[in-house]
Amino acid sequence: MEMARSALLLVTTALVLTLTASAPAQPKCAPTAPDIEGPFYKPGAPLREATGKGLVVSGVVKSAATCEPIKGARIEWWQANPRGEYDDAHRGSQVTGESGAYRFDTDSPPPYYGRPSHIHFKASAPGYRPLTTQLYPKGGQRAVAFDLVLVKE
Ligand SMILES: [Fe+2]
Repeated sequence: MEMARSALLLVTTALVLTLTASAPAQPKCAPTAPDIEGPFYKPGAPLREATGKGLVVSGVVKSAATCEPIKGARIEWWQANPRGEYDDAHRGSQVTGESGAYRFDTDSPPPYYGRPSHIHFKASAPGYRPLTTQLYPKGGQRAVAFDLVLVKE
């Protein structure tokens, strides 16, 4: 009986150690959930600080593993114009500096073919998995914060 108990304890200990060792490191910052790209992405959006006015979108590109800002990350956004059409005037990109921050002014996107208002984003940085996602601003919002949290490759 004593042998059996010892054996059980040993097996339990081994199992706990195995689980602990194989559990992946928990990200410090929750990675931003990916979302569909949709049919209107065009590469090469120009560097700019505004694609309209009325809504300020800002945030920080961060590493999920450390929560630290990522310098030299490239973000791109594209959205429907106030008439509900995708156009080149509503595509932009920025590259983050030391603070990892981005900020742009834009028009509030209207609902688009039965979908809620949204702004598409891509974010990429050397050593990180590229992210494609969307922001859903609420109606009447004049400023919205949207951090882009990337996962290491
Ligand atoms: Fe869209």
